[in-house]
Amino acid sequence: MKIYIISDIHLVAPGTTSKGMDSAQRLQWSFDDLATNHADAAFCVLLGDLADHAEAEAYRSLRSIIASVRTPVITLLGNHDDRATYLAETPEAETDADGFVQAVRDTPMGRLIFLDTAETGYVTGHLCAKRQAWLAARLAEAAGTPVYLFMHHPPFDTGAKVDQLKFKDGAALAAMIAEHGQVRHIAAGHTHRICGGVWRGTAFSNLGSTTYNTGVHLTEMPGTGARYDESVNVGIMLVTEEQIVLHAHDVNPYRQPLPMVLFPQKRLEEIYARGGKLAAD
Ligand SMILES: [Fe+2]
Repeated sequence: MKIYIISDIHLVAPGTTSKGMDSAQRLQWSFDDLATNHADAAFCVLLGDLADHAEAEAYRSLRSIIASVRTPVITLLGNHDDRATYLAETPEAETDADGFVQAVRDTPMGRLIFLDTAETGYVTGHLCAKRQAWLAARLAEAAGTPVYLFMHHPPFDTGAKVDQLKFKDGAALAAMIAEHGQVRHIAAGHTHRICGGVWRGTAFSNLGSTTYNTGVHLTEMPGTGARYDESVNVGIMLVTEEQIVLHAHDVNPYRQPLPMVLFPQKRLEEIYARGGKLAAD
């Protein structure tokens, strides 16, 4: 199963930019890559921070851009979003019984659970008692089935100052994961930086943004870390029963491929044919 993940798109009203970047164009590059190279993806997940300033025009723009995407798109909210404005502009949005933008998809590889960690008035991520109860019920009804969590705010630390703005209900989440025992992977955004690892025994991936990205500016380093207009990052997650791998991919169409003469394919194919052996006997 392939899942195409796009995070922190920070859309703005048409005709304006986000920190000088055309975030709608960058999202379109991602969707173009999805259509051209990954039309077999089961889902495309937008991991929150859909809008930069939560303007109604930005959500309207998102809705019209998504309308031409053939892959099923699932959207999460982030700290830049406003739930009421998003829902007002997205009448088809899926919510739980309490009005949070949370959803489930059952697939041959297991259950995908999409969490709403946005909390009005906070940059940090939260799951209130209602959302925790919803998650516990979704985990319980899928007992014995592998589960993949998608959430804007990372529950794990990345070693950078942004950790102060992470998901704040990590202890409750970790307890639920431990109790139910079937969560295989957590995908999060928010940090505008790609990394991966293991949090309390559960594998995670942290996606970069399609707008600006942050350097490796760790907590102990002095000053404020720079932000970069660099690659336009998306994630391509490949899930099998044996493994999960997430490819970080740059969809910036202006990146320059190196001349293929530097990578002689005939020699590589000979090595492939020899099962990795460098030279013939
Ligand atoms: Fe963001």
